[in-house]
Amino acid sequence: MSNSMEIQRFPTPEAMQDAAAALVLEAARQAVAERGRCILALSGGRTPVGLYARLSAPPILAAMPWDRCHFFMADERLVPLDHEHSNFGQANRLLLSRVPVPAANLHPMPVDRPTPAQAARVHAEELSAFFGGPPVFDLVLLGLGPDGHTASLFPDRLALDAMGPVAGEPEPGLPPRTPRLTLTFEALNRARTVLFCATGSEKTALVDRISADPEEAAEDIPAARVRPAGRLLWFLAP
Ligand code: 6PG
Repeated sequence: MSNSMEIQRFPTPEAMQDAAAALVLEAARQAVAERGRCILALSGGRTPVGLYARLSAPPILAAMPWDRCHFFMADERLVPLDHEHSNFGQANRLLLSRVPVPAANLHPMPVDRPTPAQAARVHAEELSAFFGGPPVFDLVLLGLGPDGHTASLFPDRLALDAMGPVAGEPEPGLPPRTPRLTLTFEALNRARTVLFCATGSEKTALVDRISADPEEAAEDIPAARVRPAGRLLWFLAP
Protein backbone atom coordinates (compact mmCIF):
# COMPACT_ATOMS: atom_id res chain seq x y z
CA MET A 1 0.00 0.00 0.00
CA SER A 2 1.21 3.49 -0.70
CA ASN A 3 1.36 5.67 2.37
CA SER A 4 0.70 8.99 0.78
CA MET A 5 -1.49 10.71 -1.73
CA GLU A 6 0.09 13.25 -4.05
CA ILE A 7 -2.33 16.15 -4.41
CA GLN A 8 -1.91 18.71 -7.19
CA ARG A 9 -4.21 21.72 -7.36
CA PHE A 10 -4.72 23.50 -10.67
CA PRO A 11 -6.13 26.98 -11.30
CA THR A 12 -8.65 25.77 -13.89
CA PRO A 13 -10.20 22.47 -15.06
CA GLU A 14 -8.43 22.99 -18.39
CA ALA A 15 -5.03 23.16 -16.67
CA MET A 16 -5.92 19.98 -14.76
CA GLN A 17 -6.87 18.21 -17.98
CA ASP A 18 -3.63 19.30 -19.66
CA ALA A 19 -1.68 17.82 -16.75
CA ALA A 20 -3.77 14.63 -16.75
CA ALA A 21 -3.14 14.14 -20.48
CA ALA A 22 0.60 14.63 -19.96
CA LEU A 23 0.54 12.11 -17.14
CA VAL A 24 -1.28 9.51 -19.28
CA LEU A 25 1.35 9.93 -22.00
CA GLU A 26 4.21 9.63 -19.52
CA ALA A 27 2.69 6.54 -17.86
CA ALA A 28 2.04 4.89 -21.23
CA ARG A 29 5.57 5.49 -22.47
CA GLN A 30 7.08 4.24 -19.23
CA ALA A 31 4.93 1.10 -19.13
CA VAL A 32 5.71 0.30 -22.77
CA ALA A 33 9.43 0.87 -22.19
CA GLU A 34 9.43 -1.37 -19.13
CA ARG A 35 6.90 -4.07 -19.99
CA GLY A 36 6.04 -3.68 -23.67
CA ARG A 37 2.45 -2.60 -23.09
CA CYS A 38 0.34 -0.21 -21.05
CA ILE A 39 -2.88 -1.41 -19.48
CA LEU A 40 -5.35 1.31 -18.57
CA ALA A 41 -8.75 1.44 -16.90
CA LEU A 42 -11.03 4.35 -17.80
CA SER A 43 -13.99 5.83 -15.95
CA GLY A 44 -17.26 7.45 -16.93
CA GLY A 45 -18.65 10.76 -15.77
CA ARG A 46 -18.16 14.26 -17.12
CA THR A 47 -14.65 14.89 -15.76
CA PRO A 48 -12.71 12.74 -18.31
CA VAL A 49 -14.33 14.45 -21.32
CA GLY A 50 -11.67 17.16 -21.58
CA LEU A 51 -8.93 14.60 -21.03
CA TYR A 52 -10.24 12.43 -23.87
CA ALA A 53 -10.27 15.49 -26.15
CA ARG A 54 -6.61 16.19 -25.37
CA LEU A 55 -5.50 12.57 -25.83
CA SER A 56 -7.20 12.32 -29.22
CA ALA A 57 -5.73 15.54 -30.63
CA PRO A 58 -2.21 16.74 -31.49
CA PRO A 59 0.37 16.66 -30.04
CA ILE A 60 -0.54 13.68 -27.82
CA LEU A 61 -2.40 11.84 -30.58
CA ALA A 62 0.86 11.23 -32.45
CA ALA A 63 2.98 10.69 -29.34
CA MET A 64 0.97 7.94 -27.59
CA PRO A 65 1.98 4.31 -28.24
CA TRP A 66 -1.64 3.45 -29.09
CA ASP A 67 -0.90 0.03 -30.55
CA ARG A 68 0.66 -1.02 -27.22
CA CYS A 69 -2.18 0.32 -25.04
CA HIS A 70 -5.01 -1.86 -23.72
CA PHE A 71 -8.17 -0.23 -22.45
CA PHE A 72 -10.47 -1.63 -19.78
CA MET A 73 -13.19 0.17 -17.81
CA ALA A 74 -13.10 0.90 -14.09
CA ASP A 75 -16.88 0.62 -14.03
CA GLU A 76 -19.79 0.23 -16.37
CA ARG A 77 -23.56 0.31 -16.54
CA LEU A 78 -25.36 -2.79 -17.78
CA VAL A 79 -26.63 -1.11 -20.94
CA PRO A 80 -25.60 -1.71 -24.56
CA LEU A 81 -22.15 -0.31 -25.32
CA ASP A 82 -23.60 2.30 -27.67
CA HIS A 83 -26.17 3.50 -25.11
CA GLU A 84 -25.84 7.08 -23.89
CA HIS A 85 -25.23 5.82 -20.33
CA SER A 86 -22.45 3.42 -21.31
CA ASN A 87 -19.05 4.46 -19.97
CA PHE A 88 -17.31 2.47 -22.71
CA GLY A 89 -19.65 4.11 -25.21
CA GLN A 90 -18.55 7.55 -24.06
CA ALA A 91 -14.85 6.60 -24.07
CA ASN A 92 -15.27 5.09 -27.51
CA ARG A 93 -17.07 8.12 -28.97
CA LEU A 94 -14.67 10.67 -27.52
CA LEU A 95 -11.38 8.80 -27.56
CA LEU A 96 -11.02 5.20 -28.65
CA SER A 97 -12.70 5.50 -32.05
CA ARG A 98 -10.54 8.56 -32.82
CA VAL A 99 -7.11 7.04 -32.18
CA PRO A 100 -5.20 4.18 -33.84
CA VAL A 101 -5.74 1.60 -31.11
CA PRO A 102 -6.32 -1.94 -32.44
CA ALA A 103 -9.83 -3.28 -31.80
CA ALA A 104 -8.25 -6.30 -30.08
CA ASN A 105 -6.87 -3.91 -27.42
CA LEU A 106 -10.35 -2.79 -26.32
CA HIS A 107 -11.78 -4.72 -23.39
CA PRO A 108 -15.27 -3.44 -22.54
CA MET A 109 -17.07 -5.06 -19.63
CA PRO A 110 -19.62 -7.77 -20.59
CA VAL A 111 -22.91 -5.85 -20.49
CA ASP A 112 -25.09 -8.50 -22.07
CA ARG A 113 -25.35 -10.86 -19.10
CA PRO A 114 -28.71 -11.13 -17.31
CA THR A 115 -27.45 -10.10 -13.87
CA PRO A 116 -24.59 -7.96 -12.52
CA ALA A 117 -23.29 -10.94 -10.55
CA GLN A 118 -23.02 -13.08 -13.69
CA ALA A 119 -21.39 -10.24 -15.62
CA ALA A 120 -18.89 -9.74 -12.78
CA ARG A 121 -17.91 -13.42 -12.87
CA VAL A 122 -17.41 -13.31 -16.64
CA HIS A 123 -15.27 -10.16 -16.47
CA ALA A 124 -13.21 -11.57 -13.59
CA GLU A 125 -12.39 -14.54 -15.83
CA GLU A 126 -11.54 -12.21 -18.72
CA LEU A 127 -9.19 -10.22 -16.49
CA SER A 128 -7.55 -13.34 -15.15
CA ALA A 129 -6.98 -14.68 -18.68
CA PHE A 130 -5.57 -11.36 -19.89
CA PHE A 131 -3.26 -10.69 -16.94
CA GLY A 132 -2.39 -14.32 -16.26
CA GLY A 133 -3.32 -13.75 -12.60
CA PRO A 134 -4.75 -10.90 -10.56
CA PRO A 135 -5.07 -7.66 -12.57
CA VAL A 136 -2.27 -5.12 -12.24
CA PHE A 137 -3.27 -2.00 -14.18
CA ASP A 138 -0.53 0.40 -15.17
CA LEU A 139 -2.89 3.35 -14.88
CA VAL A 140 -6.42 3.66 -13.51
CA LEU A 141 -8.29 6.91 -14.14
CA LEU A 142 -10.95 7.58 -11.54
CA GLY A 143 -13.50 10.27 -10.74
CA LEU A 144 -15.13 11.22 -7.45
CA GLY A 145 -18.87 11.48 -6.92
CA PRO A 146 -20.47 14.05 -4.60
CA ASP A 147 -21.31 11.21 -2.21
CA GLY A 148 -17.69 10.05 -2.14
CA HIS A 149 -18.15 7.17 -4.57
CA THR A 150 -15.58 6.23 -7.13
CA ALA A 151 -15.95 3.79 -10.03
CA SER A 152 -19.26 2.16 -8.94
CA LEU A 153 -18.20 1.78 -5.32
CA PHE A 154 -21.00 3.66 -3.55
CA PRO A 155 -21.36 4.29 0.18
CA ASP A 156 -23.20 1.49 1.99
CA ARG A 157 -23.61 -0.64 -1.12
CA LEU A 158 -22.90 -4.29 -1.74
CA ALA A 159 -19.91 -3.90 -4.05
CA LEU A 160 -17.85 -2.15 -1.35
CA ASP A 161 -16.79 -5.31 0.39
CA ALA A 162 -16.85 -7.66 -2.57
CA MET A 163 -14.13 -10.25 -2.94
CA GLY A 164 -12.36 -10.72 -6.27
CA PRO A 165 -11.44 -8.11 -8.87
CA VAL A 166 -14.92 -7.26 -10.20
CA ALA A 167 -18.27 -6.79 -8.49
CA GLY A 168 -21.83 -6.30 -9.60
CA GLU A 169 -23.70 -3.34 -8.14
CA PRO A 170 -27.42 -3.95 -8.56
CA GLU A 171 -28.48 -0.70 -6.85
CA PRO A 172 -26.14 2.23 -7.42
CA GLY A 173 -26.42 5.10 -4.95
CA LEU A 174 -27.05 7.79 -7.56
CA PRO A 175 -29.01 8.04 -10.83
CA PRO A 176 -29.10 6.57 -13.36
CA ARG A 177 -29.91 3.61 -11.12
CA THR A 178 -28.99 1.10 -13.78
CA PRO A 179 -27.24 -2.02 -12.42
CA ARG A 180 -23.49 -1.68 -12.80
CA LEU A 181 -20.19 -3.51 -12.77
CA THR A 182 -17.13 -2.16 -11.02
CA LEU A 183 -13.53 -2.98 -10.34
CA THR A 184 -13.19 -3.61 -6.61
CA PHE A 185 -10.75 -2.09 -4.14
CA GLU A 186 -8.81 -5.34 -4.41
CA ALA A 187 -8.21 -4.68 -8.13
CA LEU A 188 -7.78 -0.90 -7.87
CA ASN A 189 -5.26 -1.25 -5.08
CA ARG A 190 -2.95 -3.46 -7.16
CA ALA A 191 -2.52 -0.67 -9.72
CA ARG A 192 0.86 0.88 -10.46
CA THR A 193 -0.71 4.35 -10.70
CA VAL A 194 -4.17 5.64 -9.83
CA LEU A 195 -5.09 9.14 -10.98
CA PHE A 196 -8.21 10.80 -9.60
CA CYS A 197 -9.41 13.97 -11.31
CA ALA A 198 -12.04 16.05 -9.52
CA THR A 199 -13.41 19.55 -9.86
CA GLY A 200 -15.49 21.81 -7.63
CA SER A 201 -15.46 22.84 -3.98
CA GLU A 202 -17.75 20.01 -2.88
CA LYS A 203 -15.30 17.38 -4.10
CA THR A 204 -12.24 19.30 -2.93
CA ALA A 205 -13.73 19.27 0.58
CA LEU A 206 -14.03 15.47 0.40
CA VAL A 207 -10.41 15.19 -0.74
CA ASP A 208 -9.29 17.44 2.13
CA ARG A 209 -11.03 15.07 4.54
CA ILE A 210 -9.31 12.06 2.93
CA SER A 211 -5.91 13.67 3.13
CA ALA A 212 -6.39 14.87 6.73
CA ASP A 213 -7.46 11.48 8.11
CA PRO A 214 -7.68 8.64 5.59
CA GLU A 215 -8.89 6.10 8.15
CA GLU A 216 -11.73 8.29 9.38
CA ALA A 217 -12.68 9.30 5.83
CA ALA A 218 -12.75 5.65 4.71
CA GLU A 219 -15.74 5.08 6.97
CA ASP A 220 -18.09 7.00 4.68
CA ILE A 221 -16.08 8.01 1.58
CA PRO A 222 -15.43 4.96 -0.61
CA ALA A 223 -12.76 6.81 -2.61
CA ALA A 224 -10.66 6.98 0.56
CA ARG A 225 -10.25 3.21 0.37
CA VAL A 226 -8.30 3.49 -2.86
CA ARG A 227 -4.72 3.08 -1.63
CA PRO A 228 -2.79 1.47 -4.43
CA ALA A 229 0.46 -0.41 -4.24
CA GLY A 230 1.88 2.22 -6.59
CA ARG A 231 1.31 5.99 -6.88
CA LEU A 232 -1.90 7.68 -5.81
CA LEU A 233 -2.40 11.04 -7.50
CA TRP A 234 -5.22 13.50 -6.97
CA PHE A 235 -5.59 16.30 -9.53
CA LEU A 236 -8.00 18.99 -8.32
CA ALA A 237 -9.45 22.11 -9.91
CA PRO A 238 -12.20 24.61 -9.05
C1 6PG B 1 -19.51 6.78 -13.70
C2 6PG B 1 -18.17 6.89 -13.05
C3 6PG B 1 -18.21 7.54 -11.71
C4 6PG B 1 -17.68 8.95 -11.92
C5 6PG B 1 -18.05 9.85 -10.79
C6 6PG B 1 -17.66 11.28 -11.07
O1 6PG B 1 -19.81 5.71 -14.16
O2 6PG B 1 -20.22 7.78 -13.77
O3 6PG B 1 -17.24 6.00 -13.36
O4 6PG B 1 -17.50 6.90 -10.70
O5 6PG B 1 -16.31 8.93 -12.11
O6 6PG B 1 -19.43 9.77 -10.60
O7 6PG B 1 -18.43 11.74 -12.14
P1 6PG B 1 -18.24 13.18 -12.78
O8 6PG B 1 -16.91 13.16 -13.46
O9 6PG B 1 -19.36 13.33 -13.76
O10 6PG B 1 -18.30 14.15 -11.65
